[in-house]
Amino acid sequence: VSKEVAPHGVGTVDDYAINQFRIFDIEGKSIGVVRTKSGYFALLNRCPHAGAKLCKGRVTGSNLPSDPDVYVYGFRDELVRCPWHGYEFELATGRSPFGTTRARAKTYEVRVTDGSVEVLVPSAVRGERG
Ligand code: FES
Repeated sequence: VSKEVAPHGVGTVDDYAINQFRIFDIEGKSIGVVRTKSGYFALLNRCPHAGAKLCKGRVTGSNLPSDPDVYVYGFRDELVRCPWHGYEFELATGRSPFGTTRARAKTYEVRVTDGSVEVLVPSAVRGERG
C-alpha cells in the first residue's frame, strides 16, 4: 500500500470567515479547514487526546503567566482549543504548545490557487500506481 496525496477542493476564499472552521468529509475522514490571519490550515477533526471533534473547538491563543524567564509566544489565533478537555494544538503543526500533551493533532497541507482552496490528503492506493 502506497500513499498518494491528492488535492481536494474545499471551496473558495470567499467561503471562509476568519477563524471559523468548515468541516469536510475527505477520503473517509472528517477534516476541518480554517482561515486565520496567518493563512489556511487543515486538521483532522479528531483530538489526539481522547477523540473529541477537535474542529468544533475555538481558534484561540494562549494566556501565559508572565515569568520573566519564559519566552512568551502568545500564539494569538494560532491554536485550536479542544472542546472536551481544553488542550490546545497549533494549527500549523498540530503540536501542543509548551508540551502540555505529547499527543499531536494530524494536520494537512492547504493550498490556494486563484481563489480556490484545496486540501492535500493522502489516500491509500492499492496495486499499481496510476
Ligand atoms: S479529547 Fe481533546 S483534550 Fe481531551
